[in-house]
Amino acid sequence: MSVSDLPKVELHLHHEGAAPPEFIRQLAFEKKADLSRVFDERGGYAFENFVHFLQVYEAATSVLKTPEDYARLTRAVLEQSAANGVIYCETFLSPDFCGGGDVAAWREYLAAIQEAADRAEAEWGVILRGIVTPVRHFGPEQAKRTALCAAETAGDWIVGLGMGGDEGKGHQGDFAYAFDMAREAGLRLTTHAGEFGGPESVWEAIRDLNVERIGHGVRAIEDPKLVAELVARQITLEVCPGSNVVLGLYPSFAAHPIQRLREAGVRVTVSTDDPPFFHTTMRREYDMLAEAFGWEEDDFRAINLTAAEAAFCDEDTRARIKKKLESN
Ligand code: HPA
Ligand code: ZN
Repeated sequence: MSVSDLPKVELHLHHEGAAPPEFIRQLAFEKKADLSRVFDERGGYAFENFVHFLQVYEAATSVLKTPEDYARLTRAVLEQSAANGVIYCETFLSPDFCGGGDVAAWREYLAAIQEAADRAEAEWGVILRGIVTPVRHFGPEQAKRTALCAAETAGDWIVGLGMGGDEGKGHQGDFAYAFDMAREAGLRLTTHAGEFGGPESVWEAIRDLNVERIGHGVRAIEDPKLVAELVARQITLEVCPGSNVVLGLYPSFAAHPIQRLREAGVRVTVSTDDPPFFHTTMRREYDMLAEAFGWEEDDFRAINLTAAEAAFCDEDTRARIKKKLESN
């Protein structure tokens, strides 16, 4: 068995960021939208750097207008997940894009997404859960509206709050109100940090938002005290090596700190972030890690168990995931 055939748990995926380019092009065609600046000459997503990536992401997302569009997107995303051997996935969903932060509208989008996910689970066996994502560069006031949407729909399906967007904008602590609201509603917490923000942004995430997982977090490697803190607090990193390489954090998989973090005892997991944007898939991430670090089946099985333990789902779902991991 090749390591890329193993069953996989993915904790860090942006829903719109997983949209195949041909899916977005089809919607643009149907809606007569001009997305010529989103794609390169070969039809892939085109961007120069992280901030430009976020702009292209939002331009592509602009053709997703209705709950039905999001249902179609969900099916397209989960088809890819299943083809990559993903058995459980947590996806970042933004009420900012699904109804503009209005709770009633958000409920309609969510119902459509969940129905599509239920059907995909029945057909392909892949389980999906949602993490509501405030978009950092939309600011703390919008994040409160987003967190209210999350709190109002918290349950077995919306399981967490996780901030994305431009790490260069403001501080983690500016969003404490939104995270407190989500925590009080029973949601589990994660935030993007330690990608472009450096180690200080990870310290802020722990200290000011009290999150139990970190999106990326890889630049913690630059601060040994922080690495020790992540180990002591048993914080899980949602590591997306291919994303980091494409966005220029590291020149190659071999230069990526995931191996050193793991050796230091940090709980690391593997995800794709925005797979078609970063020309990757879960299979490719596994193959590249195996090649770069000599990781074998047992290493990936251990990583998937870590991911299952750090998943924000209910305990029945976690037991189902673990059983699938063990029996495949
Ligand atoms: N990082 C941060 N914010 C995002 C991303 C990402 O990869 N995708 C969509 N929003
Ligand atoms: Zn991300």
